[in-house]
Amino acid sequence: MLVTMKEIVDAAREGRYCVPAPNYNDVTQLYAAADAAVQARSPLILDIGRMFATEDRALFQELACASRSVAERIDVPCAINLDHGSAYEHIVQAMFDGCTSVMADRSSLPFEENVAQVAEIVRIAHAVGVSVESELGHVGTNEDEEALGGLQHHVETDEEKRALYTNPEEAVRYVEETGVDCLAVAVGTVHGFYPEGFVPSVDFELLAELREKVPVPLVIHGGSGSGDEILKGMAPYASKLNVGHDLFKAFGDGIAAAVESGEDPVVAGSRAYTAELVHYMEVLGSANKA
Ligand code: CO
Repeated sequence: MLVTMKEIVDAAREGRYCVPAPNYNDVTQLYAAADAAVQARSPLILDIGRMFATEDRALFQELACASRSVAERIDVPCAINLDHGSAYEHIVQAMFDGCTSVMADRSSLPFEENVAQVAEIVRIAHAVGVSVESELGHVGTNEDEEALGGLQHHVETDEEKRALYTNPEEAVRYVEETGVDCLAVAVGTVHGFYPEGFVPSVDFELLAELREKVPVPLVIHGGSGSGDEILKGMAPYASKLNVGHDLFKAFGDGIAAAVESGEDPVVAGSRAYTAELVHYMEVLGSANKA
């Protein structure tokens, strides 16, 4: 059943579990994500990647339309979120094209500009019943030296590391001034794959403090590669966790194995994607919460 993201993450915050928000690259992976939610009896937040929100709006409309029809068909709560919305036009179009939530990512801007731009988007979104996620502090990518530097302890002190992460006092002020429904925070994870053998260090003390002080649900980006222990540790404090790479890897591995065995590769890839997402739902505690 199609719902707003606010409904899903508010219930998760209250129940102290975390709902995975899978990225998907096509309708095959969309079906695989929906299968996982139905199997695990978990709420689902479909996270449409930013690469679909481009000048070629028709592509985004196709995927949003298919996502909406899947969300309406399945019997677990399902929201559709534009992940990392960038251009103002694309964010507004996503609301019109069927997303029940949008992320307005202004995390690279100075605080006051971030607030001003996101507050304007919140005003529009709330007028049409759409939830808004935004980001404070910066969750980098694995090509981002500064982000990985913070993780790999190239910076020495906790103070230096914290400077890259979300500041709790700023976060409280930010939520109050923007009116966002949930907030992505930087506590140590980064987007994409980590270097081989690297385990991210998550600042759990900071995450707990943010959960305590910030009055809206928290979102973790860069869930892939965290490992079950870290995921389990974050679940009581964060209400949404974005995951892409681990699912895409499972999909690819499933296809590779099928090429060997002679099974239909698309079926095998989908099954592996579904199994990996079910695993996330179990570890994060969203299974059996629908
Ligand atoms: Co992200």
